[in-house]
Amino acid sequence: MLRELARDLWVVERPQRFCGLEVGTRMTVIRLSDGSLLLHSPVLLDEELRRELDSRGDVRYAVAPNRFHHLYVGKVAPAYPGARTWVGPGLERKRPDLEIAGVLGDEAPREWSSEVDQLFFRGRPMENEVVFFHRVSRTLVLCDLAFNFGPRAPRLTCLVARLLGSYQRFGPSRLDPLLIRDRAAARRCMERILGWDFDRVVVAHGEVLESGGCEALRCGYAWLLTG
Ligand SMILES: [Fe+2]
Repeated sequence: MLRELARDLWVVERPQRFCGLEVGTRMTVIRLSDGSLLLHSPVLLDEELRRELDSRGDVRYAVAPNRFHHLYVGKVAPAYPGARTWVGPGLERKRPDLEIAGVLGDEAPREWSSEVDQLFFRGRPMENEVVFFHRVSRTLVLCDLAFNFGPRAPRLTCLVARLLGSYQRFGPSRLDPLLIRDRAAARRCMERILGWDFDRVVVAHGEVLESGGCEALRCGYAWLLTG
């Protein structure tokens, strides 16, 4: 179930519908140097997945990185009573039922700041996504700031992705510019992300981009970067 992308980095892929469309979802698992596991955008933890996680390390941190990727985060702490939960800005109001350790921002909590960087992507308030960068594996971890749908996606998803300019084309969809309410702020954030030394990009919907991620992201956001 856990698919290894690099040392101390795995993903778990699961079906997920959004607005009736099968778009899939992906959890990223980062093992920190002390053996603790950070679950980014958790999927439902069934017994088999828990066994696999337990064989890799101690689940201590759960992260819901934006206002949409929170559906299963509340299941982590009951399964792992020592685990603590962080959420993207706004989720603390949307999910008052969650017991949270903190709201994510530009400064990574000290629990993982020596290995993982963060940035709150501003100007896109519908999602309020916090972007993660796992330094040692040179991996950028996104949820909804880019898609990467290919032929493995269901036929209807491929069709919709094609209409939105997202089929076999890494990056944001044609609708994404409409979601950005403060272009200057979003541009500054994208420039900071592109300053990180990453090559691989994990997205929540579509395929992982194994290499060339920095250039692909720059290309996908050229419309934003050039103003
Ligand atoms: Fe998403």
